[in-house]
Amino acid sequence: MPFLEIKELKKSLGSGEGKVEVLKGIDMFVERGEICAVLGASGSGKSTLLNVIGGLDRADGGSIIIDGADIAKMNDTKLSAYRREFLGFVFQFYNLVPNLTVEENIQLGEYLASKPLDMEEIIDVLGLNEVRNRFPSELSGGQQQRCSIGRALVKNPKLLLCDEPTGALDYKTSKDILSLAEKINREYKTTIVMVTHNREISRMCGKTVNIKDGAVYKTEINENIVPAAELEW
Ligand SMILES: Nc1ncnc2c1ncn2[C@@H]1O[C@H](COP(=O)(O)OP(=O)(O)OP(=O)(O)O)[C@@H](O)[C@H]1O
Ligand SMILES: [Mg+2]
Repeated sequence: MPFLEIKELKKSLGSGEGKVEVLKGIDMFVERGEICAVLGASGSGKSTLLNVIGGLDRADGGSIIIDGADIAKMNDTKLSAYRREFLGFVFQFYNLVPNLTVEENIQLGEYLASKPLDMEEIIDVLGLNEVRNRFPSELSGGQQQRCSIGRALVKNPKLLLCDEPTGALDYKTSKDILSLAEKINREYKTTIVMVTHNREISRMCGKTVNIKDGAVYKTEINENIVPAAELEW
């Protein structure tokens, strides 16, 4: 059984005349320990999909089975426990708490978890030691993104969802962040779903789910995974 299995997932957004069916029956699966890319153009429904997998938003229909449990059927209490215990979410624009330092932002993730990883190790792995006492406004984009990855990671999530984690970053910093995702996957065996609109980035992933207009039109298995450091775009 795959680690994550999504069947016939549907989701509409907006209301009344403005209601749009954004996800029109998504089918996909991700194996345990895999890095899976979700690739698609702007507006294709990638963030909507990730938000539903992450329990930030509810599906209208279909199932999302993660490690044997269907999160589409969970009540709110169970769903928040799942988010807390199981999941790390990395946002496109970091979402750090502005009046907390780097260390305190990462501690937020630590408080939420029942079996957190060692905070010092995370700060070290992410190369954040020198800036640990700074506030988000005193950080570069890459440092902010590393901090938000730290906050997601310290929980030791089984599933790490990343929505365009390099979307707001320059080329060099993007590659550093992607190498970091690779390292996390290797060292902690974290299953990662990474949303991107950049086909080159999908080459570091074992599988690519291509979405167009709210539906999967192609799933590719990548036999020849390219290390993030060797990607070029
Ligand atoms: N509240 C809403 N009401 C109606 N339509 C919405 C709403 N929010 C998003 N949409 C539409 O849903 C579609 C998918 O949006 P989504 O944010 O999931 O796309 P995306 O693939 O993540 O795009 P991007 O690459 O630009 O981040 C878009 O066409 C968008 O206009
Ligand atoms: Mg998006």
